[in-house]
Amino acid sequence: MAQFESLIWTIPVILVLVSIGSCNACGRAEYRIGDECCPMCSPGNHVHKHCTEFTSTSCVPCVDSTFLDEPNGLIKCKVCTNCDPGLGLKVKQPCRPSSDTVCGTLEGFYCLDPTKDGCRAAQRHSSCKPGQYISHTGTTSTDSVCSDCTGDTYSNGSFTACQPYTQCKSLGLQELRPGTHLSNSECGPQSSRIESGIIIGVVVASVLIAPAIIIIIIIIIIRRRKIIRRRAFIILRRIKSPTTVTFSPGTVNAVEASSDLEETPSNVVQ
Ligand SMILES: *[C@@H]1O[C@H](CO)[C@@H](O)[C@H](O)[C@H]1NC(C)=O
Repeated sequence: MAQFESLIWTIPVILVLVSIGSCNACGRAEYRIGDECCPMCSPGNHVHKHCTEFTSTSCVPCVDSTFLDEPNGLIKCKVCTNCDPGLGLKVKQPCRPSSDTVCGTLEGFYCLDPTKDGCRAAQRHSSCKPGQYISHTGTTSTDSVCSDCTGDTYSNGSFTACQPYTQCKSLGLQELRPGTHLSNSECGPQSSRIESGIIIGVVVASVLIAPAIIIIIIIIIIRRRKIIRRRAFIILRRIKSPTTVTFSPGTVNAVEASSDLEETPSNVVQ
């Protein structure tokens, strides 16, 4: 009976001893090094010298872009994260001895791999195609959304709303090219009425007036010829019937000079 009682007492004692041995015997703010439990260094510091029987842990701050964000027994600090612009990242919160760098997304990027208060990798917002507009501008966490233009509007892909075509006629301009969903209409200067009047006038003149002038000139030439001939006949007649007319000496000379001309019978009888 006494043997049994002693056994009952022994089991819990063994269990307690086993549990102490398997658990880290050090306290929550301590770390184990060899057989010793040493006090941890506070965040932002690392162990310079472990504690001994007689001295506490010796800690020194993290330097040169290194950090430790928890109480620790480490002899080296961790290297701060680099926010790589190649991954669409920029520094949101610089590195401190007690906290790592926090990266944010660059302008025009959205986060693909978010962390508690930052981002590990980002991607550029999609660009919309010509004929589409940005119906939802991208944010730091969402991509942009594109929609098609409809009606008499256009967008080159970078607009946040499709723009109506320029109304050339209402601006007093001529439409050189109609608008499409991809591009605006193209206007040019309207040829003014005075200008077009002059152009029409010149065309009418060259088509109608020029031949008229040529005809008039021909008529004038023909008439002149007739008049010259008539004069010649009158003079010849006077030569044939000298009794009716008296001549001045100058006229006689002129007629004599021109009388070499052959006189065909038909001409003379006139
Ligand atoms: C679209 O047009 C705007 C203003 O006219 C211009 O600044 C932009 O560069 C154009 N974008 C493309 C993709 O052509």
